[in-house]
Amino acid sequence: MNNIQTRFAGLTLRNPIIVSSSSLTNTAKKNKKWAEAGAGAIVLKSLFEEQIILESQREQTNLDFHTEGAEYYTEYFKGYKLAEYLDLIKDSKREAGIPIIASINCYGDSSWVSFAKEIEAAGADALEINLLALPSTTDYKYGEFEQYHVEVLKHLKEVVNLPIIMKLGRNLTSPVALASQLREVGAAAVVLFNRFYQPDIDIDKMEHTSGSVLSAANDLTEPLRWTGLLSGSVNIDIAISGGVTDADAVIKAILAGASAVEVCSALYRDGDAFIKNALVKLNNWMTDKQFGDIAAFKAKLNVQNVEGANRFERSQFIRYFTEKK
Ligand SMILES: Cc1cc2nc3c(=O)[nH]c(=O)nc-3n(C[C@H](O)[C@H](O)[C@H](O)COP(=O)(O)O)c2cc1C
Repeated sequence: MNNIQTRFAGLTLRNPIIVSSSSLTNTAKKNKKWAEAGAGAIVLKSLFEEQIILESQREQTNLDFHTEGAEYYTEYFKGYKLAEYLDLIKDSKREAGIPIIASINCYGDSSWVSFAKEIEAAGADALEINLLALPSTTDYKYGEFEQYHVEVLKHLKEVVNLPIIMKLGRNLTSPVALASQLREVGAAAVVLFNRFYQPDIDIDKMEHTSGSVLSAANDLTEPLRWTGLLSGSVNIDIAISGGVTDADAVIKAILAGASAVEVCSALYRDGDAFIKNALVKLNNWMTDKQFGDIAAFKAKLNVQNVEGANRFERSQFIRYFTEKK
């Protein structure tokens, strides 16, 4: 057996496989099962501000509230949802016995800053912030969305001490520049990347439909590219999320410079077996290649270490278009 422990966001994980945030992690019972299957850590299902407000409004349609009453009810409802979430943290910590990372989907940053304090007090080992949004108005000013990440992180750092992980979307001009700024403000790690809802159109019914909810193997290429670039220039822990569909992808992520992977779709498809198989394959591969621990091959194929040619950037395209007949 090799040493497959890894350090991510100030935490020591027994291995680099993290169960990513989704409904797969919304009960302590499920989280116990992931820990038994061998997961290194778990990111809990996100608390979504928008969803809480919508649910609260839905409840209120049954109750005849005037404005003040409605505001009071929304606050009450938020508190109720937060209490449920704090129980999930405490119960998962007790049942799973591995690091538990809470997750918040920010939208404004006011109430979440105070929620973070309570999440810390409930014993979460870290907090993942997910700012999934698609700025799409014509008056959008370039850089505002990136700056929003920095502001949210600054506010959180003023009130909590637990490690903060920033889960980024794919819609950024430069994940490298943003991760560098986030590191300066105190981010413990970044996750590359979150997955948007995938829109599609049914041309027979002439209506909007959902594209594939689960990712596929070729979704790995973007996080792999940016991990290779980022790990070569910014000293921040990275987890790859997106397209980690088999054990090889776990190894590729580490070779590109990630400390861990956050896996979701593969667990929906394969359940526990994904974790078990990936750990066996990782161990066997390390033995074959004579790498005794993760550090021995982490970032071995990032941008700094590829024979002087920047394969993760423009040279890739030039080669592709000139060599392909
Ligand atoms: C059904 C489903 C629900 C998800 N819910 C959340 C969530 O609550 N919070 C979050 O940060 N990411 C959420 N995600 C994104 C995943 O955590 C993950 O980052 C993304 O799916 C990419 O990883 P994958 O390729 O392994 O699926 C969800 C993904 C799926 C498919």
